[in-house]
Amino acid sequence: MPEPRIIAPATGKLGVLTPGLGAVASTFIAGVLKARAEGKAPLGSVSQMAHIRLGERHEGRNPLIRDFAPLAQLDDLVFGGWDPISANALEAATTCGVLDERDLASISSEMEGIVAMDAVFDQKWVSRLDGQRVKQLSSKWDQALALMEDIERFRVENECDRLVMVWCGSTEAYQQASAVHETVAAFEQGLKDNDDNISPSQIYVYAALQSGVPFANGAPNLSTDLPCMIELSKTLGVPIAGKDFKTGQTLMKTMIAPGLKARMLGLRGWYSTNILGNRDGEVLDAPENFKTKEESKLGVLHTILQPDVYPDLYGNVDHVVRINYYPPRGDNKEGWDAIDIFGWMGYPMQIKIDFLCRDSILAAPIVLDLALFMDLAHRAGESGVQEWLSFYLKAPQASGDADPEQDLFIQQTKMKNTLRQWMGEDPVTHSEAG
Ligand SMILES: NC(=O)c1ccc[n+]([C@@H]2O[C@H](COP(=O)([O-])OP(=O)(O)OC[C@H]3O[C@@H](n4cnc5c(N)ncnc54)[C@H](O)[C@@H]3O)[C@@H](O)[C@H]2O)c1
Repeated sequence: MPEPRIIAPATGKLGVLTPGLGAVASTFIAGVLKARAEGKAPLGSVSQMAHIRLGERHEGRNPLIRDFAPLAQLDDLVFGGWDPISANALEAATTCGVLDERDLASISSEMEGIVAMDAVFDQKWVSRLDGQRVKQLSSKWDQALALMEDIERFRVENECDRLVMVWCGSTEAYQQASAVHETVAAFEQGLKDNDDNISPSQIYVYAALQSGVPFANGAPNLSTDLPCMIELSKTLGVPIAGKDFKTGQTLMKTMIAPGLKARMLGLRGWYSTNILGNRDGEVLDAPENFKTKEESKLGVLHTILQPDVYPDLYGNVDHVVRINYYPPRGDNKEGWDAIDIFGWMGYPMQIKIDFLCRDSILAAPIVLDLALFMDLAHRAGESGVQEWLSFYLKAPQASGDADPEQDLFIQQTKMKNTLRQWMGEDPVTHSEAG
């Protein structure tokens, strides 16, 4: 058995800070408040609901993950966030309309008390939003310092032992990394020079890491996926993870594609289209913001199907992803997939999926799990990219040179084996012997 990690205990309160207090963040907070006030099961949360097998099957050891690993308790969580539009978590929840009024009634005063801090925001990066609750500071360096002050104030006022940050803000316009992102020194100079290539989300990451706060990125923005942030997270000993919550259509894709590949069924094309009517959909209606999302969604199939290894099966795949803003649907997205596959002797077949999902209902438990696992990683002495959390992410960052895994089931094994290893248990290989 491996030596268990020395993991600091989860004492005191854990503050969960979300840049972005919109549909996902408010749905996440509401669900946790309901779970602890009324014992509502935190459905969809692997950290809370899933069991983990230990040892060989016949041993029958199968505890809940939350009983196995020393995670923070739901009762110990406190919430905060920044938003240029939402005033507080209740207003955010009411505006986005994900949850019924009857579900919000009993927690409305608590939700109202979670007041959004003024955001570091620049409309240049999110053209469809016009935010008023914004820090009136033109220097990016001053903006970073102001965020660090917010973080410290929140920590003191809420008597937090530890903090984590999960980006639940809008998807920013597409960009590629540039010279200013190469090193921490270049980035800091860029903050002082107000470099155009530094987006708001990057300023939050910098402020979080400088404050010793782990950062998980739920959007496809580069933010944590930059050499300077990887360097900073390693130097300061603070974990990062990204990017883009894996929900909806991509979740389905990473369930189905591994199945087709497992049975050596070929793929000729995969056409995905979505209609979505929430604020996220409105932001993504701008081509420069959609491009960021498109890049994040397109990488998935290639990594799972390995066309270079299986050219006969996956060497000629047309993969198209569309998102259409359609207000009547609100947060209740509809995602269609038309999948053209082929089998024995090349005969074509088709699969159609019509997923009537609820975006924020799928994303909320991911925010909880990322917050709890990032806090665990920090207490376990981790820094740099936490690739073991790629299970939750659409475009996972790699911790080394190899491409990250995209197959949901390999990602699940990786996550559970990481937990087993940290707790001094053998990995489960599912071989005939065990
Ligand atoms: N819901 C899902 O299934 C899902 C899946 C993957 C990724 N995401 C991503 O998660 C993010 C949140 O999604 P959502 O549905 O809650 O969107 P939303 O539009 O309801 O909320 C995002 C909030 O971020 C705020 N914001 C924008 N720029 C900001 C800044 N610089 N600082 C602080 N706040 C800022 C906006 O005002 C808005 O209230 C989006 O980027 C979305 O693409 C969501």
